[in-house]
Amino acid sequence: MVAQCIDGKSIAAQLRSEIAAIISSKCQQGYRPPGLAVILVGNDPASHIYVRNKRQACAEVGVISFYHVLPASISETELVTLIHMLNIDNSVDGVLLQLPLPSHLNTGTIIDSINPAKDVDGFHPYNLGRLAQRRPALRSCTPYGVMYLLDHIGQAYKGKHAVIVGASNIVGRPMSLELLLAGATVTICHRFTRNLAHYVQQADILVSAVGKPGLIKAEWIKPGATVIDIGINRLADGTLTGDIEFEKAKTRAAWITPVPGGVGPMTVAMLLKNTLIAAGYSPTLSP
Ligand code: GUN
Repeated sequence: MVAQCIDGKSIAAQLRSEIAAIISSKCQQGYRPPGLAVILVGNDPASHIYVRNKRQACAEVGVISFYHVLPASISETELVTLIHMLNIDNSVDGVLLQLPLPSHLNTGTIIDSINPAKDVDGFHPYNLGRLAQRRPALRSCTPYGVMYLLDHIGQAYKGKHAVIVGASNIVGRPMSLELLLAGATVTICHRFTRNLAHYVQQADILVSAVGKPGLIKAEWIKPGATVIDIGINRLADGTLTGDIEFEKAKTRAAWITPVPGGVGPMTVAMLLKNTLIAAGYSPTLSP
């Protein structure tokens, strides 16, 4: 078997062009463009790149981004005060707080201060709780993007075993809730899981979100599985790679996402989609 690649890059580009068309038609009707406040704290180089890509995507589709770059030394009170101001600013529909934050800041406390209706990352406990109760509101961008890709390839969920490797608040946990909502039987593996291979071998849908190159061995993959790689790892030679042995995994899986060009571009596209939803433009988008 040779797996078909899921081309996140082109699926995300298609979604962005649909979003751009909706915004342009809203603006022609006299509505203001959606506004996204982007907060970046400190000097994490990867975060700077992610934020640059997100702001570029905003500009491309017609979302106004309001950029707040803050020193790593900022206090929790100062950051929460800024978020409270953005919460009541009528030109701001979404508030994006780029993670990770410097270690002296309590990420949970600060996320709690974002108005859940503007939480376009879907990280607020209100939005995660809504997903857990099968009434999703704003959904976490990366898992939402994975669901968009899975729906795009016509993935069946009911009666399927989805195995997620990684249990972070921002990816693994909401990913498990999305797949559960879709009707899959879900197993979550994490750092305390013994015999990872045992679980991965059972996966009809495998999602890895750890950040360790080569963690998932190709021979563990169930023939015909759908394989989603959310890991982004930079190797010593500068190339990017996922968690899964991609080339060998292609000979077993039915569908597989590449790194780069798989899930990454979808995260940004879903952020734009969430910003549209937060702005009340309630788009109906394919698929
Ligand atoms: N850091 C890594 N991924 C993300 C994400 O999707 N959103 C935010 N805000 N920060 C991140």
